[in-house]
Parts: sequence; structure tokens; C-alpha cells
Amino acid sequence: MTSHTPPAPFVRPPAFAAPGSPGAPRVLLLGAGELGKEVAIELQRLGVEVIAADRYAGAPAMQVAHDSRVVDMLDADALRTLLAEVAPDVVVPEIEAIATQVLAEVEAAGRVTVIPTARATALTMDREGIRRLAAETLALPTSPYRFVDTLADLRAATAAVGLPCVVKPVMSSSGKGQSVIRTADDVDAAWDYAQTGGRVVSTGPDAPGVRVIVEGFVDFDYELTLLTVRHAGGTTFLDPIGHTQVDGDYRESWQGQHVPDVVLQRAQEMAAAVTGDLGGYGVFGVELFVVGEDVLFSEVSPRPHDTGLVTLVSQDLSEFALHARAILGLPAGDVTRIGGPGQQAAASCAVLAEGDGVPVVTGVEQALSVPTAQVRIFGKPSVSGRRRVAVALARGADVDEARARARAAAAALRIELV
Ligand SMILES: Nc1ncnc2c1ncn2[C@@H]1O[C@H](COP(=O)(O)OP(=O)(O)O)[C@@H](O)[C@H]1O
Ligand SMILES: [Mg+2]
Repeated sequence: MTSHTPPAPFVRPPAFAAPGSPGAPRVLLLGAGELGKEVAIELQRLGVEVIAADRYAGAPAMQVAHDSRVVDMLDADALRTLLAEVAPDVVVPEIEAIATQVLAEVEAAGRVTVIPTARATALTMDREGIRRLAAETLALPTSPYRFVDTLADLRAATAAVGLPCVVKPVMSSSGKGQSVIRTADDVDAAWDYAQTGGRVVSTGPDAPGVRVIVEGFVDFDYELTLLTVRHAGGTTFLDPIGHTQVDGDYRESWQGQHVPDVVLQRAQEMAAAVTGDLGGYGVFGVELFVVGEDVLFSEVSPRPHDTGLVTLVSQDLSEFALHARAILGLPAGDVTRIGGPGQQAAASCAVLAEGDGVPVVTGVEQALSVPTAQVRIFGKPSVSGRRRVAVALARGADVDEARARARAAAAALRIELV
């Protein structure tokens, strides 16, 4: 394993005081969605000053931060200006779409701590960076893959990788621009969708193509997220999270699934290798495919993971509380699963809105009448297209019961776009 010296965990040792007073740490969140909102709440609980930035006003984390900024974080100059104005001690990326070279600049200047490291944010925002690191440098098992820039090369790559295969823009998340090629007839449509669905969009048939990854389709038995916390006290692995995805987007997740020891051990070894190489402090969501006793690395988020929303009801310290501790240079401490007899498993179910308008949520009372159910309503000011607006959470005696309760609570919520 290559070793990269992580930057000092904290540029100046954190002292905890009234936000804004001398010595009190100031944290800048780059991205202010629902995951960032939970991180902001946990930082607030420690008295930390939080400034939340995103592309639009009124984003979920802005609603609980001390201050907020509306900035295009892919615009390097705008990001430099933001960092100079806010002068944070710690920068916490919550999304991938960031001009990461600016993070490298400020990290190198020694002015701020970038979570987990500027290099990790750059490698993981591009599927090519993280895939080559995992498969070629660290020799972790993955699906077969190719990177291509043209339709002709995509055809050749599907032949090399084999059908079915999955096509994704290298810059994308939440399944955007992703599709499965099952027969040669699907190639054109997969190319077109990848050119227009990702973060970077091809400007036309004669313009340079958007780079895509072609991966062999893994007919996995199940997939897992292994939340891995790198913190001042070492590395902590949380109980593995099972989940389902629709069109590459998370719908349900759970903890309490039986995972054979050999699988868990392999998963932890792989997570230790990849997060150890990325370095720095914070929560990582290591995504793995399990086939029998084999474990394949898929990708990693250097931040709390959407499937980890289940930890809001399954652990005394959620992934967000653990991220807050880790990024402040504090030890994670002991993590205890919550839920007594009849509540050993926990689940989350995403609630989506589709269309355009301001999402209005009703049916909360009915949702909360489901045993153990909780809901988090993100407070998104508006939606356009398909967006997650809330999550339902529940515990149960086993994964089936917890999932059924979370689904029932989610189904009770009605979303109207006005
Ligand atoms: N090679 C593959 N084989 C089978 N399923 C895949 C493959 N790649 C992705 N998927 C499915 O699509 C989901 C999203 O893909 P992922 O690479 O994690 O993209 P994103 O960055 O958008 O989360 C995965 O969780 C998995 O369910
Ligand atoms: Mg993923």
C-alpha cells in the first residue's frame, strides 16, 4: 500500500467556545443537502461555527447553519473567493461537484484542513481516479472495466468487458447518466444518456465526448456499504449496511443483516486499504458487491453516505455524529447499536418527489403511527425532476420487519408539489 502523509488533522487544535469567538473552530460545508444538514446539527451540538455553501439558497444545511453562501463550487475563482471570505479552519465537502484543485491549493498553503484530504476529494470525484487507485494500485478486486471517450471505443469496450455491462459518466453521482447495456442495440442509447446525464455534458455530436467508464455487470447476491471512520483514535468499522438501488439511486437501506465472517473480514480489509490510502479524518462510505464469499470493491465516498441515514436510528452515534467528531480531530469513541429486544435491526426508506415545485409533506402523523417509526423532512425549498425530500426510519426484530415498517412510514407520507 502506498503511504501518503495526511495533513495535520487540525491546523490549530480545536478549543470549544461560543461560535465566532477566538479559538472556536469554524467549519465550511461545501454542499448543503440533507446529509450536510445532519453534519451541521452534530457540529452545532459541539458549539462549532458552521457556514454552509451550495448553489441555491435555502438548502437543507443552510437552515441549521450560522451563516450560508450561494456559490457555484465548480467555479474555481468563486470557490477561492468563498474560502478567503469565510476563512474556515476546516472545509467539509458534502458533494463531489467541486473545483477540487482549489482545495489542493488551500491545503498546500497550510491554511485549512480539507476533509478527508484534498487528494481524496479529487480522486473520488472522478470514477477513473478511484477505480485505478483501487484496482491497479491497491490490487483490490473490482468488476472488469474500460474508460472510453468515443462511441466507437464504447463498442469495442463492451466487447472487451462483455455483456451485460454498465455505462457511467466518470463525473456523476446518484445514478445520473448511468445505464445497462444488455444487447448491442443498447449501445447508442447508453452513450447518449452518458453524454447528457452526468455532471459534465457533451455540447453536441461533433464536440469531444464525455469520458465514461464501462464496467462488467456484477450479478451480486447483495451489495453493502461499509461505513469506515478514520479518527484520532484509529479506524472504526460500523455494522455493514445492506441496500437497494433503483436506477443507481438509493431507495432502502438497513443494518442487522447477517454477513458471513469471511465476507465481513474481506470487506474490512478492503475498506482499510482504500481509506488508508486516501488518508485524513472522517467517515467514508465504502461500497462493495458480494458474490458468494467474494467481495468486489465498487466505489467510495469520502463523506457520510446516503445509505448511512439508517444510522440515525440504529446507533447511539450516527454516521453524522461520527463525522463531526472525526473531522474535529476527536476520537470516535465507542459506537453502540441501539434497539433492545425486538429491535435488533433498523432500516431507512427514501421518500422521493417527482416534478417541479415546492414539496409539501403531509401524512406525518400516520407515518409516526408505525411502530418505532421516525421521519426526517429535509425542508428542500423546491424540487425539479426526481429528488429525495424526506426519509422514513424504523427498527424491528429483523431486517424484514424493520424494512416493512420503514416502507410503511414512507408510504404514509404524501408529497404534493405546489
Ligand atoms: N458494475 C455493476 N454491476 C452491477 N450493478 C452496478 C454496477 N455498477 C453500479 N451498479 C448499481 O448501480 C448503483 C450505483 O452505481 P455507483 O457506481 O455506486 O454510482 P453512484 O456514484 O451514482 O452511486 C450501485 O449501487 C449498484 O446497485
Ligand atoms: Mg454509489
